[in-house]
Amino acid sequence: MPVARSIAEQLERASWIRRMFEEGARLKQERGTKNIFDFTLGNPEVEPPALTLEILRRTVERGLPGSHGYMPNPGFPQVRRAIAEKLRRETGLAFTADHVCMTVGAAAACNVILKSILDPGDEVILLAPFFAEYPFYVGNHGGRVIVVETDRDCLPDVRAITWAITNRTRAIILNTPNNPSGRVYPASVLGELDTVLSRLPNPPLVISDEPYRQLVYDGQTQPPVAAAIANTAICYSWSKAQALAGERIGFLALSPRLPDVAQMFAACAFANRTLGFVNAPALWQLVMAEAADACVDVAAYQHKRDLLCAGLARAGYEVRKPEGGYYVFLKSPIPDDVAFVGRLLKQGVLAVPGVGFGRAGYLRLSITVALDTIERSLPAFARALQSA
Ligand SMILES: Cc1ncc(COP(=O)(O)O)c(C=O)c1O
Repeated sequence: MPVARSIAEQLERASWIRRMFEEGARLKQERGTKNIFDFTLGNPEVEPPALTLEILRRTVERGLPGSHGYMPNPGFPQVRRAIAEKLRRETGLAFTADHVCMTVGAAAACNVILKSILDPGDEVILLAPFFAEYPFYVGNHGGRVIVVETDRDCLPDVRAITWAITNRTRAIILNTPNNPSGRVYPASVLGELDTVLSRLPNPPLVISDEPYRQLVYDGQTQPPVAAAIANTAICYSWSKAQALAGERIGFLALSPRLPDVAQMFAACAFANRTLGFVNAPALWQLVMAEAADACVDVAAYQHKRDLLCAGLARAGYEVRKPEGGYYVFLKSPIPDDVAFVGRLLKQGVLAVPGVGFGRAGYLRLSITVALDTIERSLPAFARALQSA
């Protein structure tokens, strides 16, 4: 049975990721895992906060009746009330349980909202560089991707976004702190975008994908997108802030300022079920009613960022420190980022080329690695640069 043409095409487009992993696995076998420095995956390498694990234990032991059964599709009402309360605190907006749908991570939240708003051929604006899975999410629901470049500093170019909006534009996906660029979008840029959107007769929805929201460095914070932009749906997960990526727990929250928000919420609750998620993991919902604000040690990630960036700069790379998130987005010393990733590979360093995120000429390096991996990899980065 042949697979669908659209999936065959997507597999082909994603095949560079597979090839890189295969090559990485081969090198690890050949040279030993310790001699290969893998900066490709944003997979949390630390354990979840002790408080979260303690609440998980207590929740299991308490064994509340009904804690393992079906519940309303958007999630346990008391959990949604707790998340709404947190969002009210953070944004000053009148969120209630009827704006919050618990989801199977941020990936599911993005798919649920896209499923709820897209008709075939509707357009979704992505700001390059972008998370490599977004085009597939948009494609899942018959949407058409429109790529708009960010500026030289990887911040949204509001004028370029304005030009790209047509009467088919249904959404703009914003991701801050950004994967892969590490930029934290300032309130001024968000405000500028809101001003432009609020003048349109049918403004597109801003899908604010914010799984890195708490991972911001140097004492900065991420200004809440929903507070700055009226037409916002928040996609969140605890994968990064609590190192729970395998547990699949997050939420979708619709801004109370959205027109027809009740109808949109009904569509999302329906999509959450019919996409096959049915509901978010029951136990983890109950845990998050109490542990929503817990966070891994952000200072430890900042330390790794500093060590990697300082080492790369010393070796002669042009590097901008990420303001948040998991990744250093490094300028490739030669224009062909795929070729430079090949040179790094020869030195035992695995990195992802920027072209995979819609911005050639860059490389993405994850900081979710052991300190020792960073320290031992620096001579290999230096050798790759000398060979360039
Ligand atoms: C920008 C972005 N959005 C969404 C996701 C998916 O998050 P989750 O695994 O929590 O669903 C990721 C994961 O890496 C991401 O980087």
